[in-house]
Amino acid sequence: MKKEDLIKSMVVDKSPLVKAGFNPYYQPVRSGLGRNINVNGKSLISLGTNDYLGIANNEEIKKEALRALRKFGVSMCGTPIVVGQTAINRKLETEIASFLKQEDALIFPSCYQCNMGIFGLLTTGEDVIIADREIHSSLLNGIGLSKASFKIFSHNNLDKLEKALARYSNCRMKFIVVEGLYSTNGDVPPLDGMMKLAEKYDAFIIVDDAHGVGVLGREGRGVLEVFDAFKEIDLVTGSLGKGVGAFGGFLAGGARLIDYFRYNSPQYFYSTALPPAIAAASIISLRYIKEHPEIRERINSYARKLYQKLETLGFRLTKSTTPVVCVLFETAEDAILATKMLYEKGIYTVVFVPPSVAKGASRIRLTLNANLQSEDIDFVISVFSDIKKRKPQWVN
Ligand SMILES: Cc1ncc(COP(=O)(O)O)c(C=O)c1O
Repeated sequence: MKKEDLIKSMVVDKSPLVKAGFNPYYQPVRSGLGRNINVNGKSLISLGTNDYLGIANNEEIKKEALRALRKFGVSMCGTPIVVGQTAINRKLETEIASFLKQEDALIFPSCYQCNMGIFGLLTTGEDVIIADREIHSSLLNGIGLSKASFKIFSHNNLDKLEKALARYSNCRMKFIVVEGLYSTNGDVPPLDGMMKLAEKYDAFIIVDDAHGVGVLGREGRGVLEVFDAFKEIDLVTGSLGKGVGAFGGFLAGGARLIDYFRYNSPQYFYSTALPPAIAAASIISLRYIKEHPEIRERINSYARKLYQKLETLGFRLTKSTTPVVCVLFETAEDAILATKMLYEKGIYTVVFVPPSVAKGASRIRLTLNANLQSEDIDFVISVFSDIKKRKPQWVN
């Protein structure tokens, strides 16, 4: 192949964006997170962030980050195995472990990187990985680095999971991989049933709770708290860049496993450690999360109201039980056009189109976060009501 042919073959299909006359992606943001966000010079009500608890811009947390920034500088410019492991970074690891009631934890530069690093180390060609159809790209790419057989089961379907476990019962090890809160649906896995199956078939469970930590459970300890699954789940991964309002990823579990990763995971020890200022902020954030259950109550009440009103208006929604409400559209173009209509009315949302989601299931994600006021929810509902009038074909 010629170089120019290779380059010519790299085509991005932007036709839905062109047809809708709007590109919501990579818009320059000119403010920090808050009730409003400045996107390309326009102030919008922010329903597009993963800062569920509204703490990314919290003054107390920023003060703690600044203190560490002054002491350690911007970066340690080293990996955890050498100069990158400051006492603050290690403290964050132990705080995460204790928050999730695990024996130990490691911090990675991102949850994506962490998920890329798990499967190649844990599994062999004699194993099988059985994962929910809707797991995140980072888990899929991580699984791609494993030699194990790979099977997927229909989303949250325990019967299908059991069939796969039974079919592969002769494998050396069976690994079940799920998320704690599916961020393009807003639902959670039936973890109680999964734990029973894991026990029956002696399978290992890995949960990516990137969106659940901070958001699910009375104390915000995530999906493990919801199902009191602290002992039964073998490994938990998660992000510090969502409900925790900071940056980075983590892996938590039993001490022996975590120590194995500490000395064997190149994604961990060959990559520059998290800046101490971010680690310091995350430690305070975890405390804040535990101490403020009322924030979760508020965002859940926003979500319930929005969900009920949009359902009554006739919009197609995913079956959400969390502060993530997703509105479905037949085509990518419709979803982008609806995003544009919301944007023009001053509302910032995130839109997912294929291949991020299945064909025919493009969607707008509305993230209910603590920066919002209850009148913002009423305003969003009124805008959807106007959209229904302009586009009656979008509702049932
Ligand atoms: C389920 C899930 N896992 C992992 C990630 C990656 O997290 P991070 O941004 O920390 O790399 C995301 C981010 O969107 C996610 O939704």
